Amino acid sequence: MKVGIASDHAGFEIKEYLKDKLKKEGYEVIDFGPEFKKAVDYPDYGVKVAKSISDGEIERGILICGTGIGMSITANKFKGVRAALCNSTFLAKLAREHNDANVITFGGRIIAKELAWEITKVFLETPFLKGRHLRRVNKIKKLEK
Ligand code: RB5
Repeated sequence: MKVGIASDHAGFEIKEYLKDKLKKEGYEVIDFGPEFKKAVDYPDYGVKVAKSISDGEIERGILICGTGIGMSITANKFKGVRAALCNSTFLAKLAREHNDANVITFGGRIIAKELAWEITKVFLETPFLKGRHLRRVNKIKKLEK
């Protein structure tokens, strides 16, 4: 699975940690930056992953800022992107099963990197349940037209 990841300065450490973990697990990871820890504006990096999802170049995205909120707001501006801020494995499971979320966001100032990895694994491994949930997601898709 192709996974894109990006952060701002507040999410940089978790980005690097998750990137290594994902590579070790065999995921193809595209790092959209930043390359080193520097003060940046989260929308500049959030759009890179969101655009790539929207264009069908990657299947899942991971975005980390200070709270996870700014990245979530940014990513959800893009057609086909369903970004969810998930602070627990339960939220990640439901974001996949019910919402077919394709981007997960974290707050680097909120969550420990080890927990972020546990949540990421659930997010990447859980399938969309379809059924009645597909009908609801299709209603969201209609709003994008
Ligand atoms: C940066 O200080 C901070 O505002 C940003 O990382 C994020 O939390 C915004 O949502």
